[in-house]
Amino acid sequence: MMRVDVTLIPSEVEYCSQVSTAVVIDVLRASTTINTALYNGAALVATFATVEQARCWRNMGDGRLLGGERKALPIDGFELGNSPLEYTPDVVRQQQIGLTTTNGTFAVERALERADTVLIGSLLNVEAIVEYCRGGDDLLFVCAGTQGRFSLEDAFCAGVIMARLGMVNPTDSARVAQGIYGQYKFTDPVEFLRNTTHGARLEKLGFSRDIEHCAKVDSFPVIPRWNKVHRAFVVSNR
Ligand code: MLT
Repeated sequence: MMRVDVTLIPSEVEYCSQVSTAVVIDVLRASTTINTALYNGAALVATFATVEQARCWRNMGDGRLLGGERKALPIDGFELGNSPLEYTPDVVRQQQIGLTTTNGTFAVERALERADTVLIGSLLNVEAIVEYCRGGDDLLFVCAGTQGRFSLEDAFCAGVIMARLGMVNPTDSARVAQGIYGQYKFTDPVEFLRNTTHGARLEKLGFSRDIEHCAKVDSFPVIPRWNKVHRAFVVSNR
């Protein structure tokens, strides 16, 4: 049976053993943004922990776009923020995008330390992730959290994916995610996200429509997978 582990905050990754596949989850909003950009035709999304790394990457090639946030707001000199709604087909088709966010892209770095394959999961691509991961030996969900702290919506998303996977062998923290899913599964997803700590903050900052987008379960079915050659997420064909 597939062994499933969950890091409820990214720093826990340090204590995890090597796995074949990790799924990074930052429902609000980095993983939703990556998922949306690739579904809408972006050639790749390269992720960076720092603003400086993202700027260096842009300087190494022509026509590259930068996106991301600090304190949830757009970064000076970047073409795009971290609102998934900005990543429309007109803007992103065939574009190379560099993204840096406070928590999500940091979680990607942690996942790459422990997994052979790293995917991006959000509520938008639950079934696609389930299909990719079904039948594997082990799976690690790396929840991005918010500024080093636990985020309910990321654990919930891990719980949704586990529920669809069926019988798994969960660690204690994976059981916590299953429990969170069990507690909120009948709640309207938009209301659920609005009432989380980060959701309420985004709402206050005027990102209400982003929250509605992030809650669209299974509506952007694509699998963002880390490509070691490009050092970026691209659409997986599998
Ligand atoms: C992050 O990665 O820190 C988040 O996506 C923050 C945000 O909502 O912009």
